[in-house]
Amino acid sequence: MSALSSRHLLGIKDLSAEDIRKIFRTADTFKEVLSRPIKKVPSLRDLTIANLFFENSTRTRISFELAEKRLSADVVNFSASSSSVKKGETLIDTVNNILAMKVDMVVMRHPVPGAPVFLSRHIDSIIINAGDGTHEHPTQALLDAYSMREKLGPDFSKRKVAIIGDIMHSRVALSNIFALQKLGAEVMVCGPPTLIPHHMAELGVKVSYNLRQTLEWCDVANVLRIQLERQDTRYFASLREYALYFGLNRQLLDSINKDIVLMHPGPINRGVEITSDVADSRQSIILQQVENGVAVRMAVLYLLAGRSLDD
Ligand code: CP
Repeated sequence: MSALSSRHLLGIKDLSAEDIRKIFRTADTFKEVLSRPIKKVPSLRDLTIANLFFENSTRTRISFELAEKRLSADVVNFSASSSSVKKGETLIDTVNNILAMKVDMVVMRHPVPGAPVFLSRHIDSIIINAGDGTHEHPTQALLDAYSMREKLGPDFSKRKVAIIGDIMHSRVALSNIFALQKLGAEVMVCGPPTLIPHHMAELGVKVSYNLRQTLEWCDVANVLRIQLERQDTRYFASLREYALYFGLNRQLLDSINKDIVLMHPGPINRGVEITSDVADSRQSIILQQVENGVAVRMAVLYLLAGRSLDD
């Protein structure tokens, strides 16, 4: 039985603030494990986990696989591009075939919003959403919030976090909004009006179309990429114009008298939403986010498997 209030991790929406704090405490322990010469514990050696990726991924796929291996689980990897999905097999048939091989947990990335929810209603395994279309990317939001906590301390009620860029097509934005609000932070979204959905204000977040004002307001700027692969129409005139009005660059940051923490979930479009000198600067914690992703995903797997350090 899960040590969280939900059996699956389908979205941050299903977690309580205490669940998120428990994930952070557990990740702290695993982060210490990952600093040892032998970065491995036997905690999940009795489990088999399938990573089903129906959409491209670098960070999330490798991070989950490493987390599973550091917990000693048996791991099988599936990539849609080299599978029988190409021959017309349905999602449910693919998954049922994999489960027939006795898999305990499924980590799934899929381009269709709600695909992990659909799966959780049709199969008996524990499901972890590794990103479903434009809906949610819960482990990204958890590692983002964990990285903010590590950098700025545990009191989120003092935090003002700006999420900047293509909010419309971003699953990272929605999961971050849910996680940060549950922890008590104030959230602002910023981008061109065409890339900010109208319902954002109803979620209780501030909305800004002005990057300078947003940066003057926030302590943390989480910069998102323009998701051209999900855009079926033109939302702005050109990438050059986007970079001019919504790209973070050194000159802009230097003109604001604040030490803002800069984050990006990756992959980065260097020179579009952020210039290279800013992405690689002292203010940026982009690679710490990636590093923390392994410990946070270890914590999620461990807790969903019903193990708990609090016992
Ligand atoms: N942040 C993130 O989800 O990156 P990938 O698409 O490379 O997994």
